[in-house]
Amino acid sequence: LPVSIYPNRRNSAGIDLADPLVREPFLAALRKLETRDWAAVPTALANTSAGSQGEVRSPQKGTLIGQSLEATPGDVNLMLARAEAAQAAWDNLGGEERAARLIRASERFEAHSAEIISLCQREAGKSLTDSVLELREAVDFLRYYACEARMLFSAPQPLPGPTGEQNLLRLHGRGVFATISPWNFPLAIFIGQCAGALAAGNAVIAKPAEQTPLIAAFAVKLCHEAGIPDDVLQLAPGDGRVGAALTSDPRIAGVAFTGSTETARIINRTLAARDAPIATLIAETGGQNALIVDSSALPEQVTRDVMSSAFQSAGQRCSALRVLYIQDDVADSMIEMVRGAFETLVIGDPADLATDVGPVIDAEAKASLDEHVGAMRASGRKVWQRELPPECAGGTFVAPAIIEVSSIADLQKENFGPILHVARFQAGELEQVIEAINATGYGLTLGLHSRIDATRRLVESRARAGNFYVNRNQIGAVVGSQPFGGEGLSGTGPKAGGPNYVVRFATERVTTIDT
Ligand code: SER
Repeated sequence: LPVSIYPNRRNSAGIDLADPLVREPFLAALRKLETRDWAAVPTALANTSAGSQGEVRSPQKGTLIGQSLEATPGDVNLMLARAEAAQAAWDNLGGEERAARLIRASERFEAHSAEIISLCQREAGKSLTDSVLELREAVDFLRYYACEARMLFSAPQPLPGPTGEQNLLRLHGRGVFATISPWNFPLAIFIGQCAGALAAGNAVIAKPAEQTPLIAAFAVKLCHEAGIPDDVLQLAPGDGRVGAALTSDPRIAGVAFTGSTETARIINRTLAARDAPIATLIAETGGQNALIVDSSALPEQVTRDVMSSAFQSAGQRCSALRVLYIQDDVADSMIEMVRGAFETLVIGDPADLATDVGPVIDAEAKASLDEHVGAMRASGRKVWQRELPPECAGGTFVAPAIIEVSSIADLQKENFGPILHVARFQAGELEQVIEAINATGYGLTLGLHSRIDATRRLVESRARAGNFYVNRNQIGAVVGSQPFGGEGLSGTGPKAGGPNYVVRFATERVTTIDT
């Protein structure tokens, strides 16, 4: 397949918060939305009075944000019947028209940026900066996948050759996709999965994370207003039982999932056990991401990039840095600089523009992260930990920590929060370090800070990681330029925001005509 580079495609410019003429009216619009009440209802139940509404509260503050009507496993039959009936017409619309509607959806997202950003902040506890980035990424996914729809699905591809016949390759949707998305990118990953499947001509039943149904409901509403039919894109808020009912149904042609490796395995087994055509599974899962720093690295640059990679978004990105490997010769001075920057991180309310580290998603996540730091301390490892400011008391804040370990192998699981581990290696041990990182089985992001080309080439040739970042931070992959996703325990591929993503939601058909 050709690698698609679209000269006229532009990434979203976002909102320039540095410009007071933009920032102040925008903040005023956000203040007006602080008390808005939101709702999420399964699309298939929108015109019924079925079910009872549950309250959606800020997982951090407990304030009421809206109501969600959760779907039940019993609703899945109706959803699938509607999706199946609508899918062929959507597929037959063709790539050009599907692209036009995805583009229209992206324009509606930008026109409703205040609502989206307010929801990111209130429902997921995101900082203003992260919320703006989230909106940009969502818009970028819609536009990039629209380009893919246009390029790959508009006209059949002629395959001339020795047969002398007319051979035409066409791509079509596979049928109905279930998408299952996480709370850490409640808009961008949610809509990225939907847009990928829709671009290829599938109908979609989209289950958002239990913590974040409201922003997903708003995104689906904007897509419907943009001309994507209600039965073609259906919201299915609910718990894991809805996901299980969807993935075990023989009418599901594929699943796009982002979440834990363990859940991806369960989905894989569930799909395989069905008496049904073999389904496609696209899974993006966990990571144990490392950064290797050798003695040629620039300490100031390392410090800046470590801070954002490990602590931005309170470390709640699958790309986030978990283990910093520093060459022993420079380790003491490098750790001192990193610690200096660490001590200045502002911990607090994510709505405050000065905040660097906000809360984690909920009390359960906080308990698990606090327990990890406690266990590390109890096992005698050196731990530097910040004191939480008094205003964070009672919230789901985790005091950011830096913990010395001897190797990445000391860590049994991914710690999805503001906790950085630091290990040392001797000059000449680089290959063992790469082996240890590979041996975790994960392969999502990997960073390197080095000025030595041979070192970069060595790491590049040995490391099994989906996204390798050199002399920069290792978060914030840009759609279209840095397709994102891992291998091994980190996922099945293909990469979101890349040229091989949409095609994986499609099936191929060839027509051969003897002239
Ligand atoms: N796509 C995000 C990033 O690159 C990860 O979750 O940070």
